[in-house]
Amino acid sequence: MCGIIGFTGLDDAKEALIDGLQSLEYRGYDSAGISFFEGSSDKIDTIKTVGKVSCLADKVEEEGNMETTCGIGHTRWATHGGVTEVNSHPHTAGRVTLIHNGIIENYGELAEELAKEGIKPVSQTDSEIAAMVINYYYDGNPVEAIKNATKRFEGAYGFCIMFKEYPGEIYAIRNGSPLVATHYDGGSVIASDVVALIKYSKDYFVLQEQQIARLTKTDITIQDMDGREIDPEYLHVSWDIAAARKGGYDYFMLKEIHEQPEALQKTIMPRIKDGMPYLLDDGIDDDVFKNCNRVVIAGCGTAMHAGLVGKNMMEKLTRIPVSVEIASEYRYADPIIDDKTLFMCISQSGETADTIAALRLAKEKGAKTISVVNVKGSSIARESDYVLYTHAGPEIAVASTKAYSVQLSCMYLLAFRMAAARKSLVDDEIKELVKLLKKTITDVTKLLKYDSQIENISTMLHKASNLFFIGRGLDYALSCEGSIKLKEISYIHSEAYAAGELKHGTISLITDNVPVIALATQDNVYGKMISNVQEVRSRGASVILITNAGVSVDPALCDHQIMLPKMDDRFAPFGAAIILQYIAYYTAVGRGLNVDQPRNLAKSVTVE
Ligand code: AGP
Ligand code: GLU
Repeated sequence: MCGIIGFTGLDDAKEALIDGLQSLEYRGYDSAGISFFEGSSDKIDTIKTVGKVSCLADKVEEEGNMETTCGIGHTRWATHGGVTEVNSHPHTAGRVTLIHNGIIENYGELAEELAKEGIKPVSQTDSEIAAMVINYYYDGNPVEAIKNATKRFEGAYGFCIMFKEYPGEIYAIRNGSPLVATHYDGGSVIASDVVALIKYSKDYFVLQEQQIARLTKTDITIQDMDGREIDPEYLHVSWDIAAARKGGYDYFMLKEIHEQPEALQKTIMPRIKDGMPYLLDDGIDDDVFKNCNRVVIAGCGTAMHAGLVGKNMMEKLTRIPVSVEIASEYRYADPIIDDKTLFMCISQSGETADTIAALRLAKEKGAKTISVVNVKGSSIARESDYVLYTHAGPEIAVASTKAYSVQLSCMYLLAFRMAAARKSLVDDEIKELVKLLKKTITDVTKLLKYDSQIENISTMLHKASNLFFIGRGLDYALSCEGSIKLKEISYIHSEAYAAGELKHGTISLITDNVPVIALATQDNVYGKMISNVQEVRSRGASVILITNAGVSVDPALCDHQIMLPKMDDRFAPFGAAIILQYIAYYTAVGRGLNVDQPRNLAKSVTVE
């Protein structure tokens, strides 16, 4: 995971690197470091530290009045080697200094080979071994060294590399891990994510796999492994720098919760024409839906949970069998896929390694592939036959919020279009559904005003050590999302359970005051759901009950009832999602935690 940045230009590189790392910190925050050429000399300085980018900034302030206009920076999510200063990046081996995002899987073998030549690492990282291998092949020609060394690497990498004899220059290559770059009037910048480039330019390109970029103050040149020069294809970012800043909110997560109406608006509205779902501008025609006999949806974490809601909707509206797969399991499960399978994958970042692998497998087996992706030009977007972009703008908080809502909206749009293509519903029925989807934008706006009510209710969770989310049907799918959200940022153990399943074992964990967050928004199972709530209540649970508008319940049934605005129950997940996001957010804040940067996690999981 980790965030990497390289800057060479007219301005102070240290400032540019620290600033860039701050915007990339959501990708990892175990340690941070920078290396830079001193002035225009060939001397490379390194400053690194365990902890956040702010600790690095302090250290740079203390140590460095050295002028520099070229350097590289890293914020780490440790995979190999503990969280120590020596394991922090950049790593230097001989005349090579680099930063790395990814895992060199065969680093053990490579280390043994180097050891035979008497070359030993000082850290425990795979990345230092990579630096040593590049240095081993380096005889004054950076490109040749990179080519020869990367031929030896197995695994994922994005590297930014400085060679001592080439002051002012940064070399980069990637396999798996993302790298985007731009050249602007003041120099050249490369980074893991466009959020670190936007300050310089809204135009950028994605460095393709196995291409080598050379950045100087005056330009960026790219060549492939055969030495052919490549012209990069520039893309344009549609949001501006304010979208990547906190803008007065305490946390990015809160800001992103509040951005949901706008994100939904931008994702839904351009895909409606004459009241019908319209995906032709995305290049998705009806044949895709007509020629399949089953749908597989794959993703990880929150994205996979959006798939669970999608399955429910697609099966109801189209009667096509849909399965939802955890991408990391799917790829090793020898799954049944053929050319009649429509494979959908969902990913905010478009760079999740497990999801990419599942997508590649599905393609290899002949499936048609559609991805629902937020980051333009990302690997998943590029490798899928069709892409339905979500327009959430940058999502910085590790806990996904607005990306989930727009993923849901894309699932609904796909379900509607599929129903139209396969004529499982008549146009009037579909138009009615489209209207209800549009209405979710105003419903979500209303729900944002529930903040103080939910902040108060959440106080009952501050001291909890275990809790449960229960629901049936769509509410169960949403419970899975509520549970991951809460546990990832509040560190309270939580489980999502299908409400009817609880009595088959798990109900033994319900004792006095164990909190249960019960979702009862689905009309067809409302009565059953209330019985399940009674069951936990009689065993002493503290209950937060989420219902549709106007539902009155026996006050003895729950400690708190939260009512949605009036919503069609098929669209309730859009509303209930906001409530669950607020519950997670205010619980974590109440426990005094850093909501945006939960321990052990990173935003974009580019390793297996
Ligand atoms: C969400 O809150 C999580 N941090 C995580 O589950 C995330 O959704 C998952 O890692 C998938 O990421 P992606 O959407 O970028 O593929
Ligand atoms: N594998 C490297 C390490 O543990 C890089 C991890 C990352 O991508 O942050 O240092």
